[in-house]
Amino acid sequence: VSDRTAKGRPKAVDVPRLDVDALLSDPGTQTIVCCGSGGVGKTTTAAALGLRAAELGRNVVVLTIDPARRLAQSMGLEVLDNTPRPVPDVDGANGGSLDAMMLDMKRTFDEVVEAHASPDKAEQILANPFYQALSSSFAGTSEYMAMEKLGQLRASADAGEQPWDLVVVDTPPSRSALDFLDAPQRLSSFLDGRFIRLLTAPAKAGGRAYLRALSGVVGNLTSLMTRILGAQVLTDVQTFVSALDTMFGGFSERADATYARLQDAGTAFVVVASPDPDALREASYFVERLDAEGMPLAGLVVNRVQVSAVPSLTAARSTAAAEQLEEDPAGDEDAVVAGLLRLHAERMLRRERETAVVRRFHGAHPDVPTTRVAAMAEDVHDLAGLRAVGEGLSASSGG
Ligand SMILES: Nc1ncnc2c1ncn2[C@@H]1O[C@H](COP(=O)(O)OP(=O)(O)OP(=O)(O)O)[C@@H](O)[C@H]1O
Ligand SMILES: [Mg+2]
Repeated sequence: VSDRTAKGRPKAVDVPRLDVDALLSDPGTQTIVCCGSGGVGKTTTAAALGLRAAELGRNVVVLTIDPARRLAQSMGLEVLDNTPRPVPDVDGANGGSLDAMMLDMKRTFDEVVEAHASPDKAEQILANPFYQALSSSFAGTSEYMAMEKLGQLRASADAGEQPWDLVVVDTPPSRSALDFLDAPQRLSSFLDGRFIRLLTAPAKAGGRAYLRALSGVVGNLTSLMTRILGAQVLTDVQTFVSALDTMFGGFSERADATYARLQDAGTAFVVVASPDPDALREASYFVERLDAEGMPLAGLVVNRVQVSAVPSLTAARSTAAAEQLEEDPAGDEDAVVAGLLRLHAERMLRRERETAVVRRFHGAHPDVPTTRVAAMAEDVHDLAGLRAVGEGLSASSGG
């Protein structure tokens, strides 16, 4: 497979183009979810889509997760308080607007507790050290909270409390794109599950029975925890678990409700991948999963593709020319030119490799509309960079 490109270009597949501007301008598009494996450009794509939609005239709110600091600053995201704020310097000539927020996972968790427990119970839970650890570090909480926040934003948009007609969401950094779909259920089934019930039952029966049952289960861990953190911790877990007990049903119901909303026709998934085999394999799994779940896929964004200013000069010819100059240099300049030719050859080879892996994806998924964004010379850290990405998203051809 690897030498296929060396023997000439594989036949081009006729890949449908993802028409980003049509997607963004369609009033039927109400929610866009940017998914993909770690580091491929989900946050950048979400922000760029949000900005472009706003400048096309939509009233957009974009939910970002862990944006790079400079990007966050340029979008006016200085504070982590879970409140969407207007992004400065957005061109509103077409009547659109852009609000943005960064997800504060712990704050969102707290909001859920506050909304679903009585005030004194909520206070008890929020002050609980075990809760604090769980809410900020438990596996799956960021995915759960992203869905939770999406649900909240949609609800206030639908209720007309906010002018938003489009919600764009970024998804948390994770190895697998599927985590976004799976983690919330995993978390809520944990909260609904055996482990918690085991802790809750003896807690209701009384302290001693609880301790006995707990040490029967976690044995050494309990005595270790008691020794290191003191007996208070056990009381904390107990208080936390019994207080949270009333909300367990709520957790999985809410996760289910938001999950179901992702199947809505107003939702569009945009799968982001870098042009490498791992990211495209993940994209492939994700596309299949969306299909199986009846969730609407808008298309694939291949981000950070290698582009060349002189695509007609092949890698082979460029390398041959470099060799010639190196063998028989006429002056200092020739060494520089040879170096540039080698750089060009390297880029062309990379471009060919990328094209081949993207083709492999389309071999398996020929119907997935696709667009490509060039690798920029530097990180995307301001509105100008986001606009450039937005232009790439809407301009490029599919294949
Ligand atoms: N087309 C591009 N050209 C140049 N740099 C890019 C491009 N797209 C993204 N980047 C840069 O790549 C880095 C990773 O992008 P981004 O944060 O959007 O990825 P992510 O998928 O959200 O990552 P994570 O999984 O960690 O959340 C950022 O520094 C961003 O500026
Ligand atoms: Mg990100």
